[in-house]
Amino acid sequence: MSALFDNTPPRKNTYSFKWQKYQGKDIIPAWVADTEFRCAQPILDTLSAQIEHGNMGYILPAHHQGAINAVVRWLKDKHNWDIDPSWLVWTPGVVPAFNVACKAYCEAGDKVLIQTPNYPPLLAAPKLNGLERVDIGTVIETSQDNNGNTVQRYTIDFEALEREAADPKCKLFILCNPMNPVGSVLTQSEIDRIAAICNKNNVTLCSDEIHCDLILEPGKSHIPAGREAALAENSITLMAASKTFNVAGLGTSFAIIPNAKLRQAFTSAAAGIVPWVTVLGLAATEAAFTLCDDWHQAQLSYLRENRNKVFNAINQIEGLNMLKADATFLAWVDASGLNVDNVLNWAEEKGVGPSPGVDFHKADHFRINFGCSSAMLDDILSRLAK
Ligand SMILES: Cc1ncc(COP(=O)(O)O)c(C=O)c1O
Repeated sequence: MSALFDNTPPRKNTYSFKWQKYQGKDIIPAWVADTEFRCAQPILDTLSAQIEHGNMGYILPAHHQGAINAVVRWLKDKHNWDIDPSWLVWTPGVVPAFNVACKAYCEAGDKVLIQTPNYPPLLAAPKLNGLERVDIGTVIETSQDNNGNTVQRYTIDFEALEREAADPKCKLFILCNPMNPVGSVLTQSEIDRIAAICNKNNVTLCSDEIHCDLILEPGKSHIPAGREAALAENSITLMAASKTFNVAGLGTSFAIIPNAKLRQAFTSAAAGIVPWVTVLGLAATEAAFTLCDDWHQAQLSYLRENRNKVFNAINQIEGLNMLKADATFLAWVDASGLNVDNVLNWAEEKGVGPSPGVDFHKADHFRINFGCSSAMLDDILSRLAK
């Protein structure tokens, strides 16, 4: 099945956000977090049928039983999470959803906890909503595996989280799990600790889990926040088919909010501002979550190979260093060893356009998107190595 991912549709001159930036330049775009892959055929067939039907009128998402059933089935099968369909709130993107959460659960002057480095729109959300952002750092944890090898991974600075959450002005913690850009998957004990900290301090958890179906490391699994008994009543969980199935341009995602009061506050804050998700987005989500299990598994294998390739190649380049991401198609590269003023310029001069670390609040790093054909990845890596 790897041919599915080797042969990617050309995206030059398609208005692709990722490709537009370097139009006319010999720089391979490796920044925006969408993949180069063609969507799974059942998604394309479903969208074609919807278009062929010929009517694009209003569809109230709460009436789209096909998409609702598909989400219920996916969460049960893939995440062992039994949800009640009434907990589901459709949102036209995860970015609008965490901004709505800021409005719904905070008042002017309140504080929002966010771990850094992080996805730029997440870092921007508190200020956009008249709130103060409190940064919680990311630390490297070192341990030994069963064979006595040293293993390193990024995780949240829990001491900082504990300390900052105690401020009564803190009302919301926007978590990103799996973590973008560092690629870590939080463990059960870490989720338990987050639950304890949030509950003790009356902080609501908004958990951005958009990358949760992209777990690459064998033996690791994703723990949805809302599935945890200790968090069910005090959290909202944000998910989508968008990253995994490369349908992000269709602007369709969903929040799972088991607590009726939190759900009501969320829908009230969204009212009149946030549009319904589109008919095509609902159709694509239904197809992704019902007809594409094999494609999903095949993509995970392909991405795992790509991840291993990036990890090995980057760590051989003098001045660069990275830890192996457990999840996502994003590699977080520590370029501090280059001792250059601008790591983006350094990469662009070599013909590669990563996401600059400064946007994630870590200027001496950059992020490479490895959700591409292995041939494109080889080109990216050999350019960086020159
Ligand atoms: C952590 C995270 N949240 C949200 C998004 C974007 O979500 P959406 O396109 O659904 O607004 C991204 C995209 O890169 C992301 O990495």
